[in-house]
Amino acid sequence: MGIIKQAFMLPLQGTAVAGRWDSLFLFMLWLAAIMFVLVVGSMLAFVWKYRHKASDRTTYITGSHVLEAIWIIVPTVMLLGIFVWGYSVYRGMTQAPRDAVEIRVLGKQWVWSFQYDNGRTSIGEIYVPVHRPTKLIMTSEDVLHSFFIPNFRVKQDVVPGMYSSVWFKPTVIGTHQVFCAEYCGTSHSGMLAKIHVLSEADWEDWNEGKSPKAFGDSLVEQGRKLHETKGCVTCHTADGTAKLGPSHKGLFGSKVELEDGTFVIADENYIRGKIENPRGSTKRGFTQMMPTFQGLVTETEMNALIAYVKSLAH
Ligand code: CUA
Repeated sequence: MGIIKQAFMLPLQGTAVAGRWDSLFLFMLWLAAIMFVLVVGSMLAFVWKYRHKASDRTTYITGSHVLEAIWIIVPTVMLLGIFVWGYSVYRGMTQAPRDAVEIRVLGKQWVWSFQYDNGRTSIGEIYVPVHRPTKLIMTSEDVLHSFFIPNFRVKQDVVPGMYSSVWFKPTVIGTHQVFCAEYCGTSHSGMLAKIHVLSEADWEDWNEGKSPKAFGDSLVEQGRKLHETKGCVTCHTADGTAKLGPSHKGLFGSKVELEDGTFVIADENYIRGKIENPRGSTKRGFTQMMPTFQGLVTETEMNALIAYVKSLAH
């Protein structure tokens, strides 16, 4: 259990990245404050020093290369430094570790709901383990929303028709507040959720469930059934043999060569795209025959189908 840390005037630091985020933010804040005092202070001093006097004659001013070099080089070095620092924090925040716990997030006017690997769902409350990376795979059923956890320094737009993601490694056990940070209609300000960071033991209990049967099928199992009932199996096998379409075995995460010779990585957005809008992303060597399933697969079913295809990756 980490010590609860909080930087000056900022929310609690609930993740590993929060400290790095706060350092960068405070550095930029103080740099801006110092610059403000220097610029406005010298401006006021010069206004006073060079105020109008009847006898004054301004001397002829020529340029100063030294002065110009200083005000070009110093800000350039400072801004590039901030860029490199910011980029390194940004990279750390965007590249989720491969072993991250994955939870699917659905935004809908005006509730957040969550789907877990074990098939469980929750509304308005999300459960995550402490000290383990968690990746949220998010989409919206209607308009733009934004998933914001101030204590984690995590904020990401949630967009209908595609997946966006964030990841974090919580360090403080307990309950943290989640907000919607994108104006999404009448009850936008009420679109809240609680994120519960559980100890390793509590997470195992919650995840396995005291009575696993009560949750029904796991997400992968739900997806496997949908794969049959929606008719995917007609053309796509799970064992590596090609039928009318390529097999789903080993598909997820692989590099797919398309008809036009370009390559795409088969991630969540690619699979979603194939299901909703199959034209134009046909694998080389196959004929485009797949019908669109747009409107025929709900968001929760889509998550289950993708989880199933993902489970066939290895
Ligand atoms: Cu959802 Cu604002």
